[in-house]
Amino acid sequence: MQTGSEEQITVAAAADNPLAPSTASETQTDVENQAQENSWQPANIKFVKEDRLVVAANGANLRFKALENGIDLYTLMGKMMNCGGYGQCGTCIVEIVEGMENLSPRTEAENRKLKKRPDSYRLACQTLVHGPVSVVTKPGK
Ligand code: FES
Repeated sequence: MQTGSEEQITVAAAADNPLAPSTASETQTDVENQAQENSWQPANIKFVKEDRLVVAANGANLRFKALENGIDLYTLMGKMMNCGGYGQCGTCIVEIVEGMENLSPRTEAENRKLKKRPDSYRLACQTLVHGPVSVVTKPGK
């Protein structure tokens, strides 16, 4: 009963918009196709000093992907004293040299820890990757 009224609404919308799908089944197919396309988008991470390219899923945590792939994020002090990824120690600092727009925004923890650092610096443990980026580990002060 409700299916018929939904189809009428879709057809009515199609009459106003030449780009709109003409039937309810087309609408469903389009939604499924779009979901399939967006389900796994690579967010390649280039580690510049190490000359390594790591393939990550959209939304991957930068610290996790680095450690998982044997990328050394920490100085000696950081190795001994890091907070384990909770944004408290500031030792997982990295510089983003390309693709800053493909990262999650700075967190409050980063705003506190990176106050005196350039905008291109991030805490890897607080950063989610949504597209291609180039990263310099252990950047200078
Ligand atoms: S690991 Fe401590 S701030 Fe990232």
